[in-house]
Amino acid sequence: MIIPVLPMDRETPPSTSTASVSPEPLMRMIEGLQVTAIIRAGVQLGVFDQIATGRDQAGSIAAAIDADERGTRILLDALAALGLLDTAEGYRLTPLADAFLVTSRPGYLGGMVNISAAPWTWTAYSHLAEAVRHGGTVLDHHAETPGHEFWEAFAPSSTGMAAPASRRLSELLRGWAAQRENLEILDIACGSGLYSLTLAAQHPTARATLLDWANVLELTQDNVEALGLRERTSFIEGDVFEVALGGPYDVIIASHILHHFSEQRCRELMSRLVTALKPDGRLVVHEFASGPCPADDPSPYLFSIVMLTWSREGEAHMLDTYRRLLHDAGFSPPEVHANQGMPTRFLIAERAG
Ligand SMILES: C[S@@+](CC[C@H](N)C(=O)[O-])C[C@H]1O[C@@H](n2cnc3c(N)ncnc32)[C@H](O)[C@@H]1O
Repeated sequence: MIIPVLPMDRETPPSTSTASVSPEPLMRMIEGLQVTAIIRAGVQLGVFDQIATGRDQAGSIAAAIDADERGTRILLDALAALGLLDTAEGYRLTPLADAFLVTSRPGYLGGMVNISAAPWTWTAYSHLAEAVRHGGTVLDHHAETPGHEFWEAFAPSSTGMAAPASRRLSELLRGWAAQRENLEILDIACGSGLYSLTLAAQHPTARATLLDWANVLELTQDNVEALGLRERTSFIEGDVFEVALGGPYDVIIASHILHHFSEQRCRELMSRLVTALKPDGRLVVHEFASGPCPADDPSPYLFSIVMLTWSREGEAHMLDTYRRLLHDAGFSPPEVHANQGMPTRFLIAERAG
């Protein structure tokens, strides 16, 4: 490809803007690649853990992480430039880094940093223009490849994000679930399984059925064991569009799966799910559910780029799309709840009639 040095397109009409525009916001945007790489390197090298233990000089931190002092200093200063470290008296963690980038903290999100910026992800982004031309992924192995190894990495890495969200969902369902006898839960495309396991752990007679690819369910077992739920958990291996779902269930949880598919495929999936629910059962959709204006609600629109690069037809559908799909599948209008501090929403809909 030849990149023109000078503007070449004589058909472009003159700019209508009379104000002078600073290029600064654009230059900031171009730094996005560096920003992600800097945070990932900090996580990979354990820099935040070292500073949490009290090391505050480039030399001592470099020695502790077995790295070069100059390299460490440059990384630490870049982390400070991003607002993750303070430099007033040696290197100190800012509250943001302390809460989310130190491995021992309950809110640790380093796993998500790693997975969001893994080499595999960089490769997918490097094909973005092709994906735009093609209208979907151009990769041979992608989100819909059965048993993709990415999901083995995702399941354990996602727990920092899934654990608080699971507690939030369990809170939202607590009163309703307490009135059900022997609550039966199906968690489709369960990954870590935390959404259903956390709910089951709260209700002593509840049972969870976890559905995902076999290679992912092997990892989900760790969370089942950790929560002491082995006797109350069953597993369904395979494609959510094809395997027998069993049931009927009181509640089905579909967390971060519908964005993998086109609206039509979501429609097919919801029709399948509604038949696996008890007549007054509930479907939980946990998703980026965008509003109509990208600038007001950026995260879902940026996330759609991820799905464009590595799924055939997936995207972060709009909240109104989910409302319509739920209605058409036979659900009452959903309750919509924010997921505190995260750009996703819980839609909880009851099977109508
Ligand atoms: C983004 S993760 C979501 C995991 C979990 N529900 C959560 O919210 O943390 C998507 C999950 O869907 C699973 N998956 C993707 N396509 C699937 C399919 N057709 N059938 C079953 N599982 C599928 C993947 O293995 C992965 O665990």
